[in-house]
Amino acid sequence: MTAHCPSAALQGGADVQAAWLDDVSACFYALGAPGLEYEDGMVARADWVDEDLPPGRPFVRAYFPVGPDWESRHRRLTAALACAGGEWAVEPVQETDWAHAWQKFFHAVRPGRRVWVVPAWEAPPDPEGLIVRLDPGMAFGTGTHATTALMIALLEESVEPGQRWLDVGTGSGILALAAWRLGAHVGAVDIDPVAVDAARRNVAAHEAPIAVWQGTVRDVPASEWALDGVAANLTADILLGEWRGLADRVRPGGRLLLSGIIEERWPQVLAPLGGGGLVPTAVRRQDGWVAAALTVP
Ligand SMILES: C[S@@+](CC[C@H](N)C(=O)[O-])C[C@H]1O[C@@H](n2cnc3c(N)ncnc32)[C@H](O)[C@@H]1O
Repeated sequence: MTAHCPSAALQGGADVQAAWLDDVSACFYALGAPGLEYEDGMVARADWVDEDLPPGRPFVRAYFPVGPDWESRHRRLTAALACAGGEWAVEPVQETDWAHAWQKFFHAVRPGRRVWVVPAWEAPPDPEGLIVRLDPGMAFGTGTHATTALMIALLEESVEPGQRWLDVGTGSGILALAAWRLGAHVGAVDIDPVAVDAARRNVAAHEAPIAVWQGTVRDVPASEWALDGVAANLTADILLGEWRGLADRVRPGGRLLLSGIIEERWPQVLAPLGGGGLVPTAVRRQDGWVAAALTVP
């Protein structure tokens, strides 16, 4: 099939609120965007920078694979974004360009102390370290974004060898592979088929015994209950809808790790979690994003 991928690029004015980025990200994810890029100068700086954009303007770009459902997806996107403000545009992008862009900005990183995330096409800088080698393709998750980096550091503090963990919203499979390298038995799930393919490829390249399911936490098999931990790098809005289902999978005293929360939205996410008896044991911040570890009652 021809490698074509339309890119829906969205740009708002200087007065756009940070929370707007979160809503738009949630909207893109809900419509099946496998990857997002941000550039706003203050909220969520990615390595990727669009030279044509005036600095300091919030910007988020989503990539959607062309498929038979593109027309209806495009219509839903237009309707959903009509009230978000700002301008947006759809332009075709060669998939090879997209893959190339990732390769250009994806480099070996050690977000915490132990796990290295290394592009599949590079030699690991520390062959003795815990190495996760990735080809993210069009899925989110290279370890260079703050939300992922915070999660890897929290996993390093939380995972004990032999424990059972679930990665919800696995993207490239990065957090599942990190938890496995730390000694856990791991399962992973993602709502997006493109992410599921990427995660399965990366899991297979490591010969890791990680099952990757497509869907939400509700689609994870019933055998995956009473887990020691669940890691979910989603968005504030998705977490507000899903947190109870995520916490239900965890045994009493186990851990729920959450990321993808823009700083301004953290109190709003924390309120229902606290009401449900979950106690934060670590709250970390980086580049305007919050990630937290919570103990499940
Ligand atoms: C921000 S990315 C995180 C990727 C990777 N785990 C990381 O930390 O870099 C969020 C992922 O969650 C997926 N997703 C969105 N909503 C979801 C849901 N309700 N259940 C499962 N996956 C979801 C998206 O398809 C996307 O791959």
